[in-house]
Parts: sequence; C-alpha cells; structure tokens
Amino acid sequence: RPVLAVASECAPLVKTGGLADVVGALPHVMARQGWAIRTLLPGYRKVMTALDRPKVALKIPDLLGHPARILAAQVAGLDLLVLDIPALFDREGSPYLDADGNDWRDNDLRFAALSKAAALIARDGLDGWCPEVIHLHDWQAGLTPVYLAQLNAPQPSVLTIHNIAFHGLTGPERLPALDLSSERFTVDGFEYYGHVSALKAGLTGASAINTVSPSYAQELTTEAFGMGLEGVIRKRAADLCGILNGIDTDTWDPARDPMIAPFKTPATKVANTRILRAEFGLDEASGPLSVVVSRLSDQKGLDLLLGALPDYLAAGGQLALLGSGDRRMEHDWLQTAARHPGKVAVRIGYDESLSHRMYAGADAVLVPSRFEPCGLTQMYGLRYGAVPVVARTGGLADTVIDANAAALAACCATGILHAPGSIPALAHALRHLCALHAQPETFRKIQRNAMKHPVGWEASAPLYAALYARLADQRNPQA
Ligand code: ADP
Ligand code: GLC
Repeated sequence: RPVLAVASECAPLVKTGGLADVVGALPHVMARQGWAIRTLLPGYRKVMTALDRPKVALKIPDLLGHPARILAAQVAGLDLLVLDIPALFDREGSPYLDADGNDWRDNDLRFAALSKAAALIARDGLDGWCPEVIHLHDWQAGLTPVYLAQLNAPQPSVLTIHNIAFHGLTGPERLPALDLSSERFTVDGFEYYGHVSALKAGLTGASAINTVSPSYAQELTTEAFGMGLEGVIRKRAADLCGILNGIDTDTWDPARDPMIAPFKTPATKVANTRILRAEFGLDEASGPLSVVVSRLSDQKGLDLLLGALPDYLAAGGQLALLGSGDRRMEHDWLQTAARHPGKVAVRIGYDESLSHRMYAGADAVLVPSRFEPCGLTQMYGLRYGAVPVVARTGGLADTVIDANAAALAACCATGILHAPGSIPALAHALRHLCALHAQPETFRKIQRNAMKHPVGWEASAPLYAALYARLADQRNPQA
C-alpha cells in the first residue's frame, strides 16, 4: 500500500543526524510490512548529483513563486521524489545553514515549498500512483496538513516528532508568501506567540502524532521537555504514541562490518581497541576507553561531561570524542584534549567510517544528553559491545538496562544510567563504569548482554504498520 514520506534529510544522501538514518531506514523496513514508501526530499545540490537518470514526474509552473519539478529516481534501494527548485535548494553546504552557521534566511519558504509539493502530489497523484497515508517528519514537513486541507486532499497524515527543539518559526507577514490562509493562524492552529510555527501546524493538523520512543512521548507532555508545545501535545494525547527507532543491523553488524576488524564476542573485539588507541594517540592503559560520537549541541550534554572528566580520568578512564557543531564547545574540547595528552583525544568533524571504528574499539559509549527523543549511538554501542553510559531520559531510558544490583543479579544489565543534567550523577556513573571494568568477568557479561539486546526494527515496524493501517482504514472503512 502506498505511502508518501516527507522529510528534509534521508541517509545515505543527506544527513545531519539520526533523522536521516530513520527516514532512510523506514522504506526498507516497511516494505516487509506491505507498505511501499516514496520519500519526498528537497533537491539540494548533493541530492541532485546523486540521482541517476531521474524522470520528471510532475511540473509545477508556480510553487510559492518558483517554477518547480518533481523528479522520480531510485537511489540505494529508495524510491525518491525530489523537489527540484534550484533557486531554493541548489546551494553548497548544510541543508539548514549557510557558511557562517546561520539558518538560511528563506528556510520558511524552502520547507513550505516542500510541504505544499507533498500536498499537491497527494491531491493529484503521480502517473496513477496515489498515497493512502502521508508520513511527515519534523517541522520541515509540518505545514503539509494545512496545504492538504487547503487543496482538499483527503489523505490522513501522521507527524513524527524527532526533535521538538526546532519549531520552524517565521513572522505573520510571511503568510501570503507561503500561501497560507490566515484562517488557521489561531492558537488552535499554527499561531505560536504571534509567529507562524510549522511544527505546531503539524501537531494540530496531522491526523496522528508519534515520536521516537515511549518515554519521550510521555516527557513531551511535560513543561520540562515540551519546549512550549506541551499544552498542544497534551490536547492531542489520544492521538499520540511513542514508537522506538531501530538501527540497520546489516550495516551495523560487528561480525561483518568491512570498516573494522570483525568480531563476534567481547573478548575478540580487543583488536579494534588497540587500533583505536593507536589511531587517536591514546596510551596503552588498563582502564576503560570511552567514546562519544555526537553533534556538539546543548541537547547532548557534553559540557557536563567536561565537568565530570577530571574524576573519570583520575579513576583511570580514557576518552575519544568525534563531533562537530557549536564552535565554543569544539574549542573547549580541543583545549581539554591538549591538556590531557594520551588520555583524551578529540576529532572535530563528521566521519562515518571512523565512527564505526570507535564503536568497535570502545569499552563504553557515553550519551549524557539533557533530553534525547530516541538516540541511535547508544544502540550502535550495544550492538558493538561498547557499554552505553547514558542519561535516564527519552529513548536512552527505553534502550539501556542499568547495571544496578538487581539487574546484575538477574544477569540482564546492558549499560549504566544516570540522572540527566547533573555533573555529579554523570561522574558517579563514570566511576561505576571504571569499577565494573575492573571486574573483567562482570564487564564481559554486560557486554555480551548488550550485544544480544535487540536493536533492529523488528518490534517497531509492526507498530508503524498498524498506525498506517488505522489511519488509512479510518478514512476508508470499507477498504
Ligand atoms: P541526533 O539525531 O540527535 O544527532 P542520534 O543519536 O539519533 O542523535 O543520531 C546521530 C547519528 O549521527 C548517528 O548515526 C551517529 O553515529 C551520527 N553522528 C553524529 N555525529 C557524528 C560525527 N561527528 N561523525 C560521524 N557520525 C556522526
Ligand atoms: C533526533 C533526535 C534523536 C533521534 C533522531 C531520530 O535527531 O535528537 O534522539 O534518535 O532524531 O529519530
């Protein structure tokens, strides 16, 4: 059954974070459930050059003031629809930011165009193909339900919240340019403190809402996590659910990963640990080697890790960090590495293959996030026997079993959990890591549990299938 997905990123073509992994994985995963997803993406320069002999599926003479084309192409087993508007998308660099790290000034128009294109495809179909359900991802697709309504397209939609921190705000003076009627510019629609909020448009307009873990679904209804939208979300509690992300267990398979020295047990991963220490210039040591692979943003809590680091290093720990983002944090981490040669090493940048070698070589992967809708890196850690040390929040709490006394006695621990947002709690967790690592039998057992823990899509794919079916059948009860 046909589904149209709408997103601003999709691995392997364009990725800034886990959103891309999930958008890129769902078509494969859902095909096995009988749902055929076509994914609509912006025609960024990077995406356009990856297309092999695309077909023009639709020409739109005027899409929010620009001539546009929808191109259809298959890439890496994905059935893509690409919105080609060179004036909006043919640019060097990040999907969202210019060379100075500021939002592109016309982001409102760029993603409104994406959303309106989705609604036009839904209404008119493409060469006889017509989606039954529209799956929207984050604020960049948030205006779609408004355009679906304006164009009288009948399909139900589901909005997946990957990150509530980004609202896609713009001024009310932009309503005409975005072809939005002011009728829905109300507190029950997409008005947010005098601004237009694309995310709120999705939250109020989509037929259903979900997020990427059960714990985050619950957290989103609270002031501490809802980022100002908790009231809107509470009103839609009946239509909200949490469906945990999975990871691609073929790409992330320690027994067959061509980017590492393959291994099947914790005992045999040590070759990777040696390679990793050498690659990062870390001393040979008996304490645990932890890694961080992350965007450097406030969400990820890596400033807290700087605070907890002296304790951890004193207990014999080492750290290798790969990340990029906030300039200030990049600077702080480079300085810290310079102060602790042989113990802390930092690479600023984005390097997929290095990330594989890091999970493969690490004893632990640290994710001290202040909030985390799901998180994927702790799951890569589990799969590669790198024990996750994570904040007890969102999807981190749903994927890791803390090595407390009960879990150790029941032999089911897979990692270490700590209170989010607290340097002392993180320092305590890291000391616990060092203590467990000093008991090789116990530590190996935790690593074995971690490697066995299911992290694929097996449990979640049927939940998405049931959600799609419920939405499609509600609209069309006879079907
Ligand atoms: P988020 O989407 O909030 O950034 P996730 O944990 O869901 O967090 O996903 C992050 C994804 O990006 C993972 O696939 C992770 O391995 C990858 N990643 C993040 N930073 C880097 C980096 N510097 N180099 C390579 N991969 C990275
Ligand atoms: C967001 C979240 C992350 C989640 C990812 C994929 O980027 O920050 O927790 O894993 O989306 O859903």
